[in-house]
Amino acid sequence: MSKKLFKAVDRYIENLLGKEDKALKSAERQMKKAGIPPMNVSANQGKFLQVLARMANAKKILEIGTCGGYSTIWLARALPVDGHLITLEIDKDYAAVARESIIKAGLDTVVDIRVGKALDILNELDVEDGGSFDMIFIDADKPPYTEYFEMALKLSRPGTVIVADNVVREGHILDEKHADEKVKGVQRFNKMLAGNDKVTATIIQTVGVKYHDGMAIAVVN
Ligand code: SAH
Ligand code: DHB
Ligand code: MG
Repeated sequence: MSKKLFKAVDRYIENLLGKEDKALKSAERQMKKAGIPPMNVSANQGKFLQVLARMANAKKILEIGTCGGYSTIWLARALPVDGHLITLEIDKDYAAVARESIIKAGLDTVVDIRVGKALDILNELDVEDGGSFDMIFIDADKPPYTEYFEMALKLSRPGTVIVADNVVREGHILDEKHADEKVKGVQRFNKMLAGNDKVTATIIQTVGVKYHDGMAIAVVN
């Protein structure tokens, strides 16, 4: 198994179907310039999220974990002109970088960045409008993934698509005794997902320009 080959094929797919435009390239550059670690999804993963959002006919998207706004741009571009994306970020400096990139992408009328602890904001969202989202992307800190999913369900309706990033972690999830809190968080999440009869779900593993990982994909029953 060759990482080099996985990367080359990922680049091949990217050149065909996942090309970044100026705004996406700039979003990555701005993250680098600000010293933000490259925690963003890859171009092909961004396109994949965009395709899922289109499949879900999404008008309202919730993202948990904005970072530099890279996945936000891919997702927001799936929305119709009257669509709306709310994205949550705990780090105000990261949020400021994301805001600039979202403005540059011409998406500032569609995207609403909320700065704070995701669980707090999710609780407020719950009370605030109770409105359901068509798609929810979970991609913040890993230990509370299970809690994020439970909150996501409260903000859903039958048919809502819920995606969670980084649930394979180079296969570390196979190690039941792994010490890393991130690994433990996604192991707990994956187990919960398997026993959750409110959704129909699977996990796809991904290889390519990013390390070996995976995304959980669920649709609310
Ligand atoms: N979705 C982004 C990457 C997100 S990286 C992309 O693919 O482009 C994860 C982000 O979650 C980081 O920016 C981190 O600051 C943020 N985060 C971590 N803990 C959080 C919390 N409790 N609430 C909200 N955001 C959090
Ligand atoms: C990390 C978080 C992510 O969402 C990701 O895709 C990669 C890395 C991290 O916290 O290290
Ligand atoms: Mg991620």
